Amino acid sequence: MERTLFLVKPDAMQRGLAGEIIGRLERRGLKIVGMKLLQMDRALAEQHYAEHRGKPFFEGLVAFITSAPVIAIAWEGKNAIGTVRATIGSTDPAAAAPGTIRADLGLEKGRNLVHASDGPESAARELALFFAPGELVGWQRDVDGWVIE
Ligand code: RTP
Ligand code: MG
Repeated sequence: MERTLFLVKPDAMQRGLAGEIIGRLERRGLKIVGMKLLQMDRALAEQHYAEHRGKPFFEGLVAFITSAPVIAIAWEGKNAIGTVRATIGSTDPAAAAPGTIRADLGLEKGRNLVHASDGPESAARELALFFAPGELVGWQRDVDGWVIE
């Protein structure tokens, strides 16, 4: 089992696509173990995108990600990190494979709807930025002992 940090970015929120996007990942069988609506401030944005500091698009990226509320989700599931990345598609929607979230719903690299952690280290780091350990829940069994699928 893996966990990964996912963001529904401001463009998707403004366009009313949160339900569509979250639904696609739910239907893959991934479980939500944390979810919150928040408006990222500059400090959180700079930490989240620390690897991109100094790049030409960094300032625009920080301005964009702090421009409206986002939904942060912790997804859990088998190979959750790779599964979410495969489901969202390449960074540039124009190059993303049809059927992926970015290809089906987006056109521009700077407005690519979603973020997802790209590996185990970034997932751990990013989950800790958005969720306190006690905020993440486990998917347990229901009263009859069945795993909820
Ligand atoms: P993300 O981190 O948002 O899941 O996206 P990613 O791994 O596919 O892409 P990454 O290389 O980490 O870039 C982070 C975000 O920066 C914006 N970007 N703009 N104008 C540009 O050349 C450019 N390059 C990247 C994108 O919004 C990308 O999601
Ligand atoms: Mg990235």
